[in-house]
Amino acid sequence: MLSFQSCIRCFQKYDLNQIIYRCECGGLIEIKHSVFPSPLGGEGLGVRSGVWRFKDYVLPIPDSEIVSHPEGFTRVYERESLSRWAGVDKLLFKHEGENPTGSFKDRGMTVAVTQAKRLGQKLIGCASTGNTSASLASYGAQAGLKTVIFLPEGKVAPSKIAQAIAYGAETRMIEGDFDTAMAKVLEASHDEGLYLVNSINPFRLEGQKTIMWELFEQLDWQVPDWIVVPGGNLGNTSAFGKAILEAYEAGWITKKPRIAVIQAERANPFYQSFLSGFEDFAPMHPDTRASAINIGNPVNFEKAKRVISDLNGRVEQATDAEIKEAKIQIDHSGIGCEPSSAATLAGLQKLVAQKFVRPDEVVACVLTGNVLKDPVMS
Ligand SMILES: Cc1ncc(COP(=O)(O)O)c(C=O)c1O
Ligand SMILES: [Zn+2]
Repeated sequence: MLSFQSCIRCFQKYDLNQIIYRCECGGLIEIKHSVFPSPLGGEGLGVRSGVWRFKDYVLPIPDSEIVSHPEGFTRVYERESLSRWAGVDKLLFKHEGENPTGSFKDRGMTVAVTQAKRLGQKLIGCASTGNTSASLASYGAQAGLKTVIFLPEGKVAPSKIAQAIAYGAETRMIEGDFDTAMAKVLEASHDEGLYLVNSINPFRLEGQKTIMWELFEQLDWQVPDWIVVPGGNLGNTSAFGKAILEAYEAGWITKKPRIAVIQAERANPFYQSFLSGFEDFAPMHPDTRASAINIGNPVNFEKAKRVISDLNGRVEQATDAEIKEAKIQIDHSGIGCEPSSAATLAGLQKLVAQKFVRPDEVVACVLTGNVLKDPVMS
């Protein structure tokens, strides 16, 4: 097989079928693919899934092994009212809330659950601020695998819990925040042989890369100047950076967009670290009402930090009030999204005001979740 796993720190190689979340040296693991001839495959499942049509550059396996709803093929929206509000001429929204379980997580979950199944795993689990658990529960049910989800008690939108339970997941409520739940599920991955599908699992990120590739294709491979994404566990940030660099190296695109990561002010360890030039990094106790990004110790910090430096990116923060105001704008434009997704527009407006983003630059915000997911800020 031409693809393999590799440590981002010491470059130690691991077989694609080895279960490993961190290298012996402590570094995060990523997937490497050897060839990148052309972006699209168009046969079989490739026609129906926005993820698996890129399968040679995601997980090159036979279609018969794939667990897919299918997913992807989400739309891109443009609204004059929102461009004006943000202060740029051309502003696009790629709506990942249009995936089967209502969030971008499905793009990664189809790959992680496929990998779990082909490796003969019986029990799969995750810690979650809500959307990961709903997605895992759904794909786990489709694959016929037992799923267990670790949720921070009182900190997950009720509709997301209801969704995961409906799909048949076993729920473990954890006292503490998401980061405590993450530590507990990591323990369970060692003690109970549970296959972990949080975004520390490199196969998740391979699926999430296709958000960028699909967007570029929708724009005839003319990339925007900026991609704006909310930052929680920093899985998307890491996946988008990898997607952009791979597409550039393969010659699919001739320019690399910059990336802006927006955190909630009360869950902003990545922003704080960015301000110090990434000299310091201190985990924190998060406390934002944008519950999906209420994360104080992002597992993908090391990958995301590299993305910011590779793509000359920026990290910005937005208060809950600013996120709420941006959500109202997106909702009233008729598009709609969940609070965490609206952090993109809130942060963009600030970056334009500070002149980091110019009005004549083309910007694409990624809306990560559906408007029905978390009505708390409405
Ligand atoms: C709707 C939504 N937006 C953003 C995020 C944060 O994504 P990431 O962990 O990739 O930074 C999440 C994660 O749970 C989410 O559910
Ligand atoms: Zn290593």
